Amino acid sequence: MLFRQFFDSDSNTYTYLLASKPGRPCFIIDPVRHQTSQYLAAIDQLDLQLVHAIDTHTHADHVTGLGALRDATGCSTIMGEYTRAECVSTRVRDGGRLTLDNLTLEALYTPGHTNESFSFILFAAESPNAVFTGDVLLIRGTGRTDFQGGNPGKSWDSIVNRLFLLPKETLVYPAHDYKGWTCSSIGEEQSYNPRVSGKTREQYIEIMRDLRLPDPRMMDIAIPANLACGQNGEAGSVT
Ligand code: FE2
Repeated sequence: MLFRQFFDSDSNTYTYLLASKPGRPCFIIDPVRHQTSQYLAAIDQLDLQLVHAIDTHTHADHVTGLGALRDATGCSTIMGEYTRAECVSTRVRDGGRLTLDNLTLEALYTPGHTNESFSFILFAAESPNAVFTGDVLLIRGTGRTDFQGGNPGKSWDSIVNRLFLLPKETLVYPAHDYKGWTCSSIGEEQSYNPRVSGKTREQYIEIMRDLRLPDPRMMDIAIPANLACGQNGEAGSVT
C-alpha cells in the first residue's frame, strides 16, 4: 500500500493520501486548500490518479482543499450524508464503502465533534488496518464538542461504542495533532487516552463541558468557505 501523511503547520492538520501502489487511483482525506500544490506534486510524482477527495467533517480551523482538487483533477468530493455542504458530489452513509483496487474505505458515522462527522475505516486486506477519525478521536485526546452541533454524550458514544469496537491493533490516524503524535492504535487509546480511559460517560461530559476553549482563529471564514468546498469568494483571501 502507498500511504502518505501530510501536515499543515498553520492548522495542525493531517491529510492522508492512499493508493494500492504508484501508478494507480488514489484517495485523499482532509486536504487543506493552501497545501493543494503539494498534494498535486506528490500525486504527479507518484503517477497517481486522484479519484476521491474526502472530508471527515466541516472543518472550522482551515479551508478545505476539496474544491481546488476537484477543479484540478476532476475527482469526486465526498462527505457524510448529514453535511450541509451542497458542493459535495457524493454523500456516504454509515456502512457505505468506497473501493480503489484492493483498498476499501468504510464510512462510520461518529458524531460528537460535529453532528455530521464521519470516520473512515481502511481495509487493505480482510481485517481493518486503520481508521481515519477526523476530530472525533485524537491521539490521547478528543475533539472539542462545543460548536457545530457538537455533543459530548454523542462524542463518548462514537468513541466508546463505535471506534473502540474495532480491533485493538487498528491504527488511528486523526485529522489533527498538537503535540507531535502521528499515529496511535485503538488499543492504545482505550488504555491511555486521558479523557476516556477509566472514565464514565458522565465524567467525560463534565470534562468536555469544562474545557471552555476559545473559538478557532479561522472559524468565521473556514466554516462558510467549507460549505462551498473551499471555493466561495470570501475564502479567496485565505491562504
Ligand atoms: Fe474539526
